[in-house]
Amino acid sequence: MHLIETRDLTYIYPGKVTGLEGVNFIAGRNSRIAVIGANGAGKSTLFKHFNGIFRATSGTVLIHGEPVTNANIREVRKFVGLVFQNADDQIFSPTVEQDVAFGPLNLGLDPETVHHRVDEALAMVGIEHLRERVPHHLSGGEKKRVAIAGVIAMEPQVLVLDEPTAGLDPQGIKDLIAVVDTLAERYGITVIFSTHEVSLVPEVADQLYVMHKGKIVAQGTVNEVFCDPDLLTSVRLDVPVIPKLIRSLQDEGIPLSMAYSLDEAKQEFLRFAREKR
Ligand SMILES: Nc1ncnc2c1ncn2[C@@H]1O[C@H](COP(=O)(O)OP(=O)(O)OP(=O)(O)O)[C@@H](O)[C@H]1O
Ligand SMILES: [Mg+2]
Repeated sequence: MHLIETRDLTYIYPGKVTGLEGVNFIAGRNSRIAVIGANGAGKSTLFKHFNGIFRATSGTVLIHGEPVTNANIREVRKFVGLVFQNADDQIFSPTVEQDVAFGPLNLGLDPETVHHRVDEALAMVGIEHLRERVPHHLSGGEKKRVAIAGVIAMEPQVLVLDEPTAGLDPQGIKDLIAVVDTLAERYGITVIFSTHEVSLVPEVADQLYVMHKGKIVAQGTVNEVFCDPDLLTSVRLDVPVIPKLIRSLQDEGIPLSMAYSLDEAKQEFLRFAREKR
């Protein structure tokens, strides 16, 4: 059974605006899935189906094999944690600590467990020092981290992050990648995220969906999708900088194998340098 599955999912906004059209999406266990697409491609609309904020106009959404209903919506929200694109939509308590505690308290956990989870979540995203602060007086990147901490504290099986790196500084992005690594490796959590930073995708994701005008136009492993630059440019996306560099060196006649992540590229350059010596 898949953790999340959509079958032929179509969503029409009021005013007959097509948000999604015939989307088939699968998230399995222990996966790191990136969803990319230009502005208005449908990423946020898709993500809002994963925890029952939106219900399909037609087609099916299955969360852990079950359609979302009013009866199981609490279970669904416990299972899938969604961090909104805009942190202001998610943060409303008078202090950071209370905000992060809100979800776990709502799950009916005892105060000691809540306290422990809040401590852990604040530490994970590196904002223990903001504990007593008023969320609405924080910077954009700080708010983003509060929103992420609030969802991590719920300990979901699937963590869905809608443009988590937008507005984060370079250290914030590194911290976020470390959080995703920890959650995936230590707890086996599946992470789904959208991003406009394509170069980040090979560093974090193993699977990739490409959206365009409400549809999925490509899917596969990160390497499979990124080896087709024409497809990416046709939907207003860019190829990540590392495969772009390797391809241009190949065009100069340098016999390098394709690489996508920083680490793969380093290994490939080292191999080449050793053979040259
Ligand atoms: N509340 C709404 N009412 C009507 N149309 C909407 C609404 N929200 C989104 N849309 C439309 O649905 C489509 C998909 O929007 P969505 O927000 O899912 O895109 P996105 O891929 O998340 O874009 P971005 O990269 O800008 O966040 C767009 O055409 C958008 O104009
Ligand atoms: Mg969006």
